[in-house]
Amino acid sequence: MDDFPRRSGDPSSKWSPEEIEAAIQLLELSETVAEAAEKIGITSSSLRDAFRRRGMPSPSCFLESNSVWGRGISSSPTKQELSWKTHFVIPDSHAKPGISNDRYEWLGHFIVEHRPDVVINLGDMADMESLSSYDRGKKSFEGRRYRKDIESVINAQKRFFEPINKLNEELEAQGKPLYKPRFVMTLGNHEDRINRIVNDSPELDGILSVGDLQYEEFGWEVYPYMDRVVVDGIAYSHCFASGVMNRPIGGEHAAAALVKKHYMSCTAGHSHLRDFAERTRADGVKIQGMVAGCYFEHQESYASTANLLWWRGVVLKHHVQEGQYEPQFLSIENLKHNYGRKKIKSDVVQETD
Ligand SMILES: [Fe+2]
Ligand SMILES: [Fe+2]
Repeated sequence: MDDFPRRSGDPSSKWSPEEIEAAIQLLELSETVAEAAEKIGITSSSLRDAFRRRGMPSPSCFLESNSVWGRGISSSPTKQELSWKTHFVIPDSHAKPGISNDRYEWLGHFIVEHRPDVVINLGDMADMESLSSYDRGKKSFEGRRYRKDIESVINAQKRFFEPINKLNEELEAQGKPLYKPRFVMTLGNHEDRINRIVNDSPELDGILSVGDLQYEEFGWEVYPYMDRVVVDGIAYSHCFASGVMNRPIGGEHAAAALVKKHYMSCTAGHSHLRDFAERTRADGVKIQGMVAGCYFEHQESYASTANLLWWRGVVLKHHVQEGQYEPQFLSIENLKHNYGRKKIKSDVVQETD
């Protein structure tokens, strides 16, 4: 079908609302999914995959003889449903020297496959162990260098963006629209170590800065530590504070506390724990609080048995609209299993000075 808006030969890219709507119109005039797929010029499985990626019911639901979408209330999804967004949330990933950055490449491949509209990095991507005040002067501190910390984070971003950049090179070569999600970064207390040391030692002003991490150069929108950014009705921050003392919200029921204190959907990192709470407003709108865990495999000696409490993974939020969403928690083992076999570069920042 010549006038179908689908970009031919690109079955893996996320379809636009207009493309889905056009496909539904074809399905409503077809007896089988295969018949509609043939009219579009793709396979049935590609058509099913396109609907799945958009969070839609199976294409078969829209066939003339089998329309069950909306169970008789509506024959096709509304404009609002077609505008649902997908958010991909990456909690504390703590890149540091001596620890493999393979996990960042898994993220890049996951993003290429799922094409979220917004990627939110909740901060503490940089561990900055050379600026730790916790174990300064102890044996565990030996060998730490600011330069190596920075190199590790830059390497992590290169690994993260490489699959995405490669995808865009391929799309550009084919004359297709590029994949341009919004990349959002809310800085964590570990990045803020740089600001604190400059504050404590003003002579370092102009020498060390958060800018050394090159977050903005790599394409992130950067928000300061403890600041918030609201995206599609969800407030994101590394760590939320409340009350006149501006104390960080935490504790055993942190997710519930987020919605109780802020009256809207909030997602935070920082504690490395996973927690989720949902409350319902009088008008039926859901308010969702989330603490998203962490994204690294190594054990931290300072945390001792707390390592066992941490949840390690990422979150894909489907059907995001006005602060409401359907969360999908994906463990780091899941990403490693699915993307760890792809080509991985040797990346561990060497311990030499
Ligand atoms: Fe943190
Ligand atoms: Fe952290």
